[in-house]
Amino acid sequence: MKVRVLGAGVIGLACAWELTRRGHTVEVVDPAPGAGASHAAAGMLCPAGELWHGEEDLWRLGRESAALWPAFASQLGVEVHRTGTLLAGADAGDLQEIDRQLALLAAAGTVVEPLGRRELQATEPGLGRVAGGALLPEDHSVDPRSVVAALLARVPVTRSSVGLHVADPAYDVTVVATGSDLPEPFAHLVRPVRGEILRVRTDDAPRHVVRGLVHGEPVYVVPRAGSDEVVIGATSEEHDGPAVVTVEGVHRLLDAARQLLPSLDRAAFVEAIARNRPGTRDNLPLVGPSGVDGVVLAAGHYRHGVLLAPLTARLVADQLETGAVDVALDPRRPALEGAPA
Ligand code: GLY
Repeated sequence: MKVRVLGAGVIGLACAWELTRRGHTVEVVDPAPGAGASHAAAGMLCPAGELWHGEEDLWRLGRESAALWPAFASQLGVEVHRTGTLLAGADAGDLQEIDRQLALLAAAGTVVEPLGRRELQATEPGLGRVAGGALLPEDHSVDPRSVVAALLARVPVTRSSVGLHVADPAYDVTVVATGSDLPEPFAHLVRPVRGEILRVRTDDAPRHVVRGLVHGEPVYVVPRAGSDEVVIGATSEEHDGPAVVTVEGVHRLLDAARQLLPSLDRAAFVEAIARNRPGTRDNLPLVGPSGVDGVVLAAGHYRHGVLLAPLTARLVADQLETGAVDVALDPRRPALEGAPA
């Protein structure tokens, strides 16, 4: 097939690479390849760490995609940082919340190792005052910027916003993968959820990904493999304005991260950026036929774009070749009918 992919973030590029490897002719178009949400993403491959009530489909998809990551990463020549993830609650209220998540994970049959305060601090000696938490040994991370760079080295991209119109009879199929900025008639299917995220450098990085709740404030700290970079994220705000970094956002992230890992006080501040996550009404992605002839969506990945990239690529390519659709992700599903996301 002759396929055009709109959007050169991790989703669009992963789809384009998979389709190319299956022998299709693929053209990718993006005015600023790799500069959207993928550029901000922390790269946590953490289906367990992000599991919450009512999100069973996301859990299933996250686990399926996490299982594809080792081969996907090794074919790209990037490393999966296999540290596991620590959940850490600063006070009794935070720990209660974490315990609720652990009960959900236990019911879903996943591996969790609950840790008391001392065990947690022995596992991650840089932690400050914590009430307790758990180790999620199967939740790892990658560097999304390395992943995107490796994909861009394999998939040529036309730098253009011209042609970001969905109907183009020159192609058998157009795959729309433009994150929170979907063209019409699909724009109403996603809502922008701003995430602000920081990067610092330190010679005292944590050994694990640490997902903390600090007096009710969620924060995660992600060390990079083979580097002194540490990512601190992320705010989450529903809004209609541009994705700008705010003083309050930076303050909240730094405040929570420093309480969780006090040695971050000595880290060198590198970057603060903000991008919009593409949220859908049911917080599940849109992967499959759009309802417009010749147009397939690969969008709406909300908090999970990096994790779900290899699975999305496979689903999109399967869809084009066999017509198969995962009903939970079908962009025409009843849950999305009516009002905007
Ligand atoms: N998946 C992490 C985030 O969206 O902040």
